[in-house]
Amino acid sequence: CRVRHYHFNVMMKNTTRLCSTKPIVVVNGKFPGPTLYAGEDDTVLVRVTNHVHYNITIHWHGVKQIRTGWSDGPAYVTQCPIQPGQNYVYNFTLTGQRGTLWWHAHILWLRSTVHGAIVILPKRGVPYPFPTPDKEVIVILAEWWKSDTEAVINQAMQSGLAPNVSDSHLINGHPGLLSNCSSKGGFTLNVHSGKTYMLRVINAALNEDLFFKVAGHDFTVVEVDATYTKPFSTDTLLITPGQTTNVLLTADKSSGKYLITISPFVDAPVAFDNVTGTATLQYSGTLATAATTLVKPPPQNSSQLANNYITWLRSLNSNKYPAKVPLKLDHSLMFTVGLGVNPCAACSNGRRVVADINNFTFVMPTFAMLQAHYFNVSGVFTDDFPGNPPMTFNYSGNTPSNLQTNNGTKAYRMAYNSSVQVVIQDTAFLAPESHPVHLHGFNFFQVGRGLGDFDSKNDPKKFNLVDPVERNTIAVPAGGWIAIRFIANNPGVWFLHCHFEVHTSWGLKMAFVVDNGEGPNESILPPPHDLPSC
Ligand code: C2O
Repeated sequence: CRVRHYHFNVMMKNTTRLCSTKPIVVVNGKFPGPTLYAGEDDTVLVRVTNHVHYNITIHWHGVKQIRTGWSDGPAYVTQCPIQPGQNYVYNFTLTGQRGTLWWHAHILWLRSTVHGAIVILPKRGVPYPFPTPDKEVIVILAEWWKSDTEAVINQAMQSGLAPNVSDSHLINGHPGLLSNCSSKGGFTLNVHSGKTYMLRVINAALNEDLFFKVAGHDFTVVEVDATYTKPFSTDTLLITPGQTTNVLLTADKSSGKYLITISPFVDAPVAFDNVTGTATLQYSGTLATAATTLVKPPPQNSSQLANNYITWLRSLNSNKYPAKVPLKLDHSLMFTVGLGVNPCAACSNGRRVVADINNFTFVMPTFAMLQAHYFNVSGVFTDDFPGNPPMTFNYSGNTPSNLQTNNGTKAYRMAYNSSVQVVIQDTAFLAPESHPVHLHGFNFFQVGRGLGDFDSKNDPKKFNLVDPVERNTIAVPAGGWIAIRFIANNPGVWFLHCHFEVHTSWGLKMAFVVDNGEGPNESILPPPHDLPSC
């Protein structure tokens, strides 16, 4: 293994999309940002220098950060932010990890433009467990607002209402053909007939689950969230914010141009950006004037398609890559996730929409929880986060008359190496909504999933404990539930939150504290000397 050095300069850049120009925060002048390449087991050092007027942190989404929580990135959870003019070196090792992950800002809504791919290649001489592609291509999906995204969320937090939806979807930084202003600016995937391409698809959008299609071509899904899957073929990908998916695409036509689309999957009565983002797959030798073969994006409420797609996802579970699903449980938790309405004196409405886990709306501390944990600083958070909902709800049925939640900065504490199950149920109180839940510090197995209310007697009998998909981000279906399992073998403070940025802003977040173990390699490493202070 090697040590890889990167320098991320966080800076402003005037950028034009949809016929209008605005300054955005980017890394090294690029949008999307630079790709971080590394090999399995490599150590990565990224010096981040903050040249903008915002505080910044960077999260390496999906990197487990074994014992190096100081480098995980969520602001006020594992570190105080890097202030304007300051530097911080993120230092972590990619122990046993390979595949596609990504990095993004983890403060405010800056991740809308501060994001990029992480590509971790397998160890030298170790092939992929599928035919080696001729070429690999990164495909980053995102959303674009014409106005400043910080203004969008600030205005929403002041009014107490939902923020404006984005004005367009982007593929590798461009909205593509269907937007009036960018007919020339779309991303082109150049291919040669007969060759196979591996697309490393990343959903960096803020608030939307996305369908991804290429006219006339199928995908073979081989990896999600940097874990290998049983290969299956599909003409549509579904990918929630935070997730990554590697697919093989064979250029089996002789020539031509084929439309690539991204469009939202929304099975709830909420506002969303319905502009289809496009790009073009173009065979070499195709005339510039050739017509593009079109494809229709799936209807936005294609729940059946979404449900099928999710059930096809299984761990590869081969001899070389076994699925090590925890079978005995030390902690069996249930979290309800959903929306509520709280009084808000400062809001123009007098009330505001909030989001919660087990009826707690998370209040961000002003000092980093990991530092408080490590140095035994009291008063930053408490470890009494409830492991179960406060009462037995009919989650998908009646909406209670009182939608008020409790506020708190609470964590759930576990011993090192505990094995944990969490059933996460959408309450659907205000509206049924999908929640792409992301766990820092671990991968988990999705052992169960269903619509309606979780049935604690019968549903566990149907859990898949053999080859469930392993990932770091999973969508709780609108008005439904999922069950995940993981081993808490990483000491530190680990954030769990909805990867819809609007729900995170509203408080759908909590943290796990995993105590140090007794063994020599079972405790958090000491903090680096350049750790930012608050
Ligand atoms: Cu990709 Cu806590 O985030």
